[in-house]
Amino acid sequence: MSLSLLPRLTSRVFSHYRRIATRLAGWIYDRPRLAAWFYAPESPEARYREHNGRMFAGFHEQERMLADQRRMAFYQAAITRHIQPGDRIIDLGTGTGILAALAARRGAAHVYAIDHSDILKHARTLAAANQIKNVEFVSAHSTEFRVDEPVDVILHEQMGDCLFDEAMVANVTDLRDRLLKPGGLILPSVFEFFCEPIKVRDSRLVPFIWELNVHGYDYSSLERERPQETGYYHLASSDLNLVDHFLGEPEPVLSIDLHTLNESDLPREVTFTRRVVNAGRLDGYAVFFRAWVDDDLSLSSSPVDQNRAPHWGFRILRTERDDFAVGDEIDVRLTVGTWTDLHSWRWSHVKRAAADTRLTAHGR
Ligand SMILES: C[S@@+](CC[C@H](N)C(=O)[O-])C[C@H]1O[C@@H](n2cnc3c(N)ncnc32)[C@H](O)[C@@H]1O
Repeated sequence: MSLSLLPRLTSRVFSHYRRIATRLAGWIYDRPRLAAWFYAPESPEARYREHNGRMFAGFHEQERMLADQRRMAFYQAAITRHIQPGDRIIDLGTGTGILAALAARRGAAHVYAIDHSDILKHARTLAAANQIKNVEFVSAHSTEFRVDEPVDVILHEQMGDCLFDEAMVANVTDLRDRLLKPGGLILPSVFEFFCEPIKVRDSRLVPFIWELNVHGYDYSSLERERPQETGYYHLASSDLNLVDHFLGEPEPVLSIDLHTLNESDLPREVTFTRRVVNAGRLDGYAVFFRAWVDDDLSLSSSPVDQNRAPHWGFRILRTERDDFAVGDEIDVRLTVGTWTDLHSWRWSHVKRAAADTRLTAHGR
């Protein structure tokens, strides 16, 4: 055999074995019970990190956040008011590096700008192009970040549409406990979480399919096919015209301060009562939040607030339609498996009619 044939033969043998190995791997993968022996199961936490890193790696999410003028004005004011020249800062989840840059311009001595997604390479380029000094970019998940000397401030924007769903509490409190000076500042730290009974505007209402009758074509027989997956009972929107009104006076059902909160302090069940002040059909609960920095500096994602920060969506937890008159009361119960996992949330209500004392329970 000539020597020139040897590499071709070797390459053929390798590609033959690679094909067999790929086929075998696919065959195992298609048999979940067998696959469990070969592949380590991915934890929900690992899956979430992967999803979050991928979502924020592209320009699309970043530009929506940067173009949200209310969000940016809130952070600019918070940084101007509360970051002192000479502060050492961690910017948790720096994205394109905007908050780190604003802090550096404010006079921070050093900003550790951490991000676990590939957006960080663009943050570096942007900082150089904008002559930003004193920012050290760190490509890491925050839980893996170490520094010798504790910092004065943790700056972050980790709020999900439903406040908790981007793991804000776990991420911030982990850094707080390890790397924030005693008496150090978390910006922002105070949050209110709302879950308000709402009526959807008639022109925007999408009823459950079994409630429909379209030109005499009746869908009620589909009621026995009600989907079991909770995702069906969620509606994500950022449409300011979706919600017609709150049935009661809105009030936060949870208020937290990240300076003192531990994730385990979050209740697994929230119960509250709303006395109906605006009559109408109950279509669900609007989930949204308000972040506070000072008495006159806050940021809202409320579906009925014309000054809401527009890039955040809000979530409607859909309910069976139920009509309420002024003076009726709605006793609501929200239970959560994990605050970060919206699919683990369950909700129900009991109606207490003002006109009589009968109770009617509804829920999922
Ligand atoms: C909502 S964006 C905010 C980006 C930027 N701070 C801003 O205000 O425009 C959140 C960023 O945090 C990053 N991130 C989320 N969790 C993180 C974690 N635990 N460690 C590091 N980066 C994280 C994401 O990749 C994303 O770029």
